[in-house]
Amino acid sequence: MVAYKSKMVERITLPSRDQRERALEAAGYNVFNLDAEAVFVDLLTDSGTGAMSDAQWAALIRGDEAYAGSRSFDRLESAVADVMGFDHVVPAHQGRGAENVLYGTVLSAGDVALNNTHFDTTRAHVANQDADPVDCPVPEAHDPDADAPFKGNLSLERARSVVDEVGAERVPLVIQTITNNSAAGQPVSVANTRRVREFADEIDATFVIDACRFAENAYFVTQREAEFASATVAEVAREQLGYADAVVMSGKKDGLANVGGFVATDDESLFEQCKQRAILYEGFPTYGGMAGRDVAALAVGLREAVEESYLEDRIASVRDLGSRLAEVGIPVYTPTSGHAVYLDAGAAFPHVPANEFPGQALVCELYREGGVRGVELGSFAFPETDRPELVRLAVPRRTYHREHFDHVVETAAAVLEDRRDVAGFEIVSNPSMPELRHFTARLEPCPT
Ligand code: F0G
Repeated sequence: MVAYKSKMVERITLPSRDQRERALEAAGYNVFNLDAEAVFVDLLTDSGTGAMSDAQWAALIRGDEAYAGSRSFDRLESAVADVMGFDHVVPAHQGRGAENVLYGTVLSAGDVALNNTHFDTTRAHVANQDADPVDCPVPEAHDPDADAPFKGNLSLERARSVVDEVGAERVPLVIQTITNNSAAGQPVSVANTRRVREFADEIDATFVIDACRFAENAYFVTQREAEFASATVAEVAREQLGYADAVVMSGKKDGLANVGGFVATDDESLFEQCKQRAILYEGFPTYGGMAGRDVAALAVGLREAVEESYLEDRIASVRDLGSRLAEVGIPVYTPTSGHAVYLDAGAAFPHVPANEFPGQALVCELYREGGVRGVELGSFAFPETDRPELVRLAVPRRTYHREHFDHVVETAAAVLEDRRDVAGFEIVSNPSMPELRHFTARLEPCPT
């Protein structure tokens, strides 16, 4: 059931087919290069693109811009303590800032970091410390059709085999990303989190939860993990996060804010080290690169993110988009995640080989056909990793309604109908960091 009504609106327009064609070409067939005004329904990301509540806007006006000791920071500290259960918070300008602070503190050159699946910025931050990011997804994570409740789990078997191979002393960090964004946004069970805690203790590693979508994850736990059938989302969130030594957070997701992030921990020594690094890269540790007003909005958003009515509406609307796309024949990764519908471009365009990026071909067709912007999360975004050719349609929080999704479904159905004419792509300009190439690379259609 819908949990809010609109108080402010923003006009959107659908450019003509000719304008879309020209915009795509000018963007080098990379939708990150499109002007947002040229996009009709923007499903590029759920990050910082949602609508804030009236309570968040009210908090924003009252934000305290003091450089040190801001009242807004006190509000954030108490929200993090209440919602996530950690006493210490090191704010950062957004999630990747928090990643730099934490991973720069925990990792040294030659180390290995284990993760259920590294998100692209996480992978890049681990690599930036000259450490090695190793993914440990469960095998069913890469099967778009497997019906399992927690396809986002970390494979202990795989993690143990990596430790056997490289030695425990080279693995100071185990990360669990909840939900597992780069594995189709699949949730992680609390049982798996407990086992990862034990494993981290065995190898004497720091256990970090990337908590970007912790509230959506907790909602899935209440629905799918028998032990938590009568627990509230807020209870599950605190329980699950409580197993970690630290969390790294992007406030742009389940903080329901437009910007912001933080590291939170109960570990005094880690806290002190993170604070020092944060001063260097982010700002004084009571604002960390955010304006005081943004800290204030994040403090309110964190509490709203674990409200049951909000989450019920959120998860149901994403699930609804997924099942309507599947009904018109689009190959959809199942089960649907909490923040996005992931399309299986390999199955949609079987005639486009992986080295011609079928996912990018689908992303371009969705824009060309209906001004819908999604993002490729297959072999273009993750070179040299073995994964399905997924396209993510991420749903900004509290922003789009059924009519927008009608348009997305009609667009995708039209793309599928004309699929035989769709060509693959080749990269014509390649940025230096392979982990980040999909943000800025330019492409050209392969000759057909
Ligand atoms: N970790 C995960 C799992 C993420 O999904 C993201 C961002 C980050 C860290 C970094 O946070 O953007 O605040 O710096 N994901 C966005 C996305 C960008 O579109 O999925 P950030």
